[in-house]
Amino acid sequence: MNLKGRSFLTLKDFTSEEIEYLLDLAAELKAKKKQGILGNSLKGKNIALIFEKPSTRTRSAFTIGCIDEGGHAEYMGREDIQLGYKESVEDTARVLGRMFDGIEFRGFSHENVEKLAKYSGVPVWNGLTDEYHPTQILADMLTMKEHFGYLKGLNFVYLGDGRNNMANSLMIGCAKMGINFTIAAPKALWPQEELIELCKGYTEQTGSTITLTESTDGVKGADVIYTDVWCSMGEEDKAAERIALLSPYQVNSELMKKTGKDTTIFLHCLPAVKGKEVTEEVFESKNSLVFDEAENRMHTIKAVMVATLGN
Ligand code: CP
Ligand code: NVA
Repeated sequence: MNLKGRSFLTLKDFTSEEIEYLLDLAAELKAKKKQGILGNSLKGKNIALIFEKPSTRTRSAFTIGCIDEGGHAEYMGREDIQLGYKESVEDTARVLGRMFDGIEFRGFSHENVEKLAKYSGVPVWNGLTDEYHPTQILADMLTMKEHFGYLKGLNFVYLGDGRNNMANSLMIGCAKMGINFTIAAPKALWPQEELIELCKGYTEQTGSTITLTESTDGVKGADVIYTDVWCSMGEEDKAAERIALLSPYQVNSELMKKTGKDTTIFLHCLPAVKGKEVTEEVFESKNSLVFDEAENRMHTIKAVMVATLGN
């Protein structure tokens, strides 16, 4: 499998086999790191980390993943560069592309990450936009694979804001990997019809299902329960409206019981607002794998960099 020179903007651009390859590579890099073995595949490579929005996990994962493989990572916050307001994205992209070997971008507009990829001439990795968060999905998949031993045929239910970057990316990822995917959310917060249709197209290859429901009965039979914040970064002014809409979709013990299985795991991309989308009880329960999932951000992001840029 050769992914050299490719950007990683959304999982739409990757086949099931390519996603599987990245997960296997991440597992291999993780096992090696646990034995104290680090690589050299990014030696001599410089990567730019552009963050218009805050981050704990993604920033740390890109930084450590890069340094573990012998590369250098340079953080550029919103106030550090003038991306899109005093310099066009196209111009910043061309400058960074002359100096850096790879660029991570976290920001608002998905169009900007596409422009960076188009104009920089180097691999660009999406560290989250308003529409997609593809590196998170790799960590989620790796966590599920480690826990269950397989992905195809698992029943995955996402509750909450069904039209945010996480819901969109999970739907794409699950459809591509043959995981049965359900969104339980009020209709006003369902994904765009066009994306649903695209993902249904993927399931024709993989044989899995996509279900949209307003009822929390949709969690019946779930192997994985997933939720995310009700207000994504930049939507803080929507808090009252979202609480009103989404309170019935809180992941609490009662909802976990409704799956009918005591083996259902709980995942969350984090950061979590406990008491809103998830209760402290579920978050801290033995079925919650959120910190394995957080750690896996690093191994999977490292795999993306190694696969697309490594020697
Ligand atoms: N899950 C995730 O992307 O976390 P950060 O916002 O901390 O990077
Ligand atoms: N939907 C969340 C994800 C954070 C990792 C946000 O965009 O803020």
